[in-house]
Amino acid sequence: MPAEPKPPRAAALPARPLLLALPFLSLLLLLYVYSSSSSPSFSPPLPLTPSPPSPHIRMRASRFRSYDDYLRHQLNKTLDPRLRRVWATRDWRRKVDAFARAFARLRDSSSDHPLLTNASRALCVGARLGQEVAALRQVGVADSIGIDLAPAPPLVAKGDFHAHPFPDDTFDFEFSNVFDHALYPDRFVAEIERTLRPGGVAVLHVAVHRRGDKYSANDLLDVQGLVGLFRRSEVVRISKVDAFGLDTEVVLRKKRTS
Ligand SMILES: *[C@@H]1O[C@H](CO)[C@@H](O)[C@H](O)[C@H]1NC(C)=O
Ligand SMILES: *[C@@H]1O[C@H](CO)[C@@H](O)[C@H](O)[C@H]1NC(C)=O
Repeated sequence: MPAEPKPPRAAALPARPLLLALPFLSLLLLLYVYSSSSSPSFSPPLPLTPSPPSPHIRMRASRFRSYDDYLRHQLNKTLDPRLRRVWATRDWRRKVDAFARAFARLRDSSSDHPLLTNASRALCVGARLGQEVAALRQVGVADSIGIDLAPAPPLVAKGDFHAHPFPDDTFDFEFSNVFDHALYPDRFVAEIERTLRPGGVAVLHVAVHRRGDKYSANDLLDVQGLVGLFRRSEVVRISKVDAFGLDTEVVLRKKRTS
């Protein structure tokens, strides 16, 4: 015999339509807030999904248990008091002068469109104490700033290179020599391309075919592994450099139309 159908629970009904509508109402509210805000997007949300595997980049992600663990690991070197003392004293002049020579070369290199000018708005990605920022200012690029996980005022602001604290299309020039520290290489590059204005220039110093230090998150086996991640830029040139253990300079320009 079929079971008697249960009578409807009339008392629960009145609340139901409202409860069911709540997710939709909040979604509408969210869409409204986003569409009515004119401010550009800052700091895309973390955590991130792993970069797709590349035959040109060997990831060392397995050494990190989580994104927080990775950040702690990076900060451990950046905040090491002994290293900071060396960077700020013995290292400072030597590094600033070497960076200044590299930037002056970029500024003076003949090109239809200059790579770097005194009027460029410049960002150094993963700048630690800001030797490269000091160098840019020294050669005359006054509007320069760095970002790193730990700030070092007035040259370096707090900022994760996986989520630049700047709106789209902000900078004319970006420099970095910390690609090997990127846990998400595709995101590292996408953030540079996002915050560069169309026609802006990215310069990266990297080590190819070398094993990085114990803080490295990846090893770049072939420069194509880096260049291939730039989806909105064209290679200007790739050349050999001798830059504190890094051997390759990659210069790219973000396309003016996407
Ligand atoms: C940070 O560095 C110190 C000294 O080198 C070490 O003892 C400690 O385990 C490190 N912590 C992490 C989270 O790597
Ligand atoms: C750029 O700035 C440097 C340093 O202040 C100065 O020597 C140089 O003449 C400037 N270049 C131009 C083209 O203004």
